[in-house]
Amino acid sequence: MENEQNKGLFSNFFRKILTRKNPDEMLADASKAGFQKTLGAIDLIILGIGAIIGSGIFAVVGIAAAGGNESLGAGPGLVVSMIIATFACIFSALCYSEFATMIPVAGGAYTYTFATLGEFAAWMVGWVLMLEYAVGYVAVACAWSNHFMQFVKGFSAYLPNWLVNPPIWLISDYKNAVIQLNALGQTTASIPHIFGIPISINLPACIIVAIITSILVKGTKDSTKMATIMVAVKLAVIGLFVLVGAFYVKPENWVPFAPNGMSGIFMGAFIIFFAYIGFDALATAAEECKNPQKDLPIGIIGSLIATTVVYVAVALVLTGVYCTSSPNIDPGFLKAPMAYVMCMVHQDWAAGLISIGSLAGLTSVLLVLQLASTRILYAMSRDNFLPSVFQKLHPKYSTPHVLTLLVGVVCMIGTMTLDLDVAAQLCNFGTFTSFIIVCVAVLILRKIDPDRPRPFKVPCSPLFPSLGIAFCGGLMLYSMKSLTASALMFPVWLLIGLGIYLQYGYVKNRKIEINKLNSTNKDEKELITK
Ligand code: ALA
Repeated sequence: MENEQNKGLFSNFFRKILTRKNPDEMLADASKAGFQKTLGAIDLIILGIGAIIGSGIFAVVGIAAAGGNESLGAGPGLVVSMIIATFACIFSALCYSEFATMIPVAGGAYTYTFATLGEFAAWMVGWVLMLEYAVGYVAVACAWSNHFMQFVKGFSAYLPNWLVNPPIWLISDYKNAVIQLNALGQTTASIPHIFGIPISINLPACIIVAIITSILVKGTKDSTKMATIMVAVKLAVIGLFVLVGAFYVKPENWVPFAPNGMSGIFMGAFIIFFAYIGFDALATAAEECKNPQKDLPIGIIGSLIATTVVYVAVALVLTGVYCTSSPNIDPGFLKAPMAYVMCMVHQDWAAGLISIGSLAGLTSVLLVLQLASTRILYAMSRDNFLPSVFQKLHPKYSTPHVLTLLVGVVCMIGTMTLDLDVAAQLCNFGTFTSFIIVCVAVLILRKIDPDRPRPFKVPCSPLFPSLGIAFCGGLMLYSMKSLTASALMFPVWLLIGLGIYLQYGYVKNRKIEINKLNSTNKDEKELITK
């Protein structure tokens, strides 16, 4: 009997997985959800800058700039890499804006895909977005932990030793704890075991995740207030870096401009792309905007342009003060380039302030990434791909508190188990994929639903969306040239997503359809008998 039923579930399989959700239905669902509408254009720009400027410019930029013998980066040509990365983002940002104003509901790229490419593609995009937001969140939380420990070490003269030099297994995931212990020539025997399982906890990362989770449970408006402070602090320290560093720029450091040629510039663009991730997260908070039609494009494009200006200024100063084409790039430059450069020119006070700024920067990125991941999961639960308990809003704060707590706990586990580099690269793959799909979806919806009101339209379509696909696809393929663990793990992630969809989301949606059909038939029968 059950087998029969299951056979029924899978009949017309392809038609079912291509089922699109009508945007009007999405808007109706959203109007029932009851999110508080608290975000204006300025809030969105702040949240956008809060989401974008983080470990990318405070740490990853060193790797992207390193163009010496052993390094693959851009050298002073980093400015060009940044402009390439900006182009990849700006075309996608325009497409995001068209969708966000047309269908201003939670879920971002996931929702847009459901309206254009159907149920299966939407689920896969939601699943891929978890790479960007949740796995990226884990990477940034671990980076936050590293920066925090560096910051604490700066005060070693005043703080107790247990705080400055805690056991490695208390500040790192297991893999990195083993690497660090080996590098110090120590055995791994110091790592405690419970039931034979080695326990390594990244405690600072877990604590910051717990703090961010509790702020997000309290409400989006509070999160915006906190993001405003963080954004002000990080912009102030970046401004300080540019102003102080400008006095030490030596134009001869800009020559040769591209020590690794175009290949270095492209590799630099791929690496620095991580620094731009985050503007798309704004679209996921569409249901909490006061006036999404007007404010969302301003927020998305405004934060991207502001960030690009800041990044180019940093790149010019960084490569002007430090010789990035030198054969021996210092590891300190690769880890925290801005602070390193300030120490190099004997401005240690500025280096200290930059450390504080980087902590603030990473904190605001965490805030927005967790916000975005919960809003996407919320939308997926509303579409019956995930259990309905995820839609529960907090009685007092109107936030999806069950989901926020769940994401917090999963990410804490992630900080203990995930390899950082792989997490960041996976995050890039997830983002490129979602950007490409949003550009494709804009082109499709223009064809299948040309009359839908579009308060904001991507100019020069189909050229601009196609350029978005070309830039993102090109950078993604370029990165795959050097097949790394992440390039191999990406398809594995997709396969896991496929399995969950077939086992849960697909089946649940079909059962709901059958129930609806049965109740309609029953109503019709009753009508006839009457
Ligand atoms: N763009 C974010 C950062 O740089 C992910 O941390």
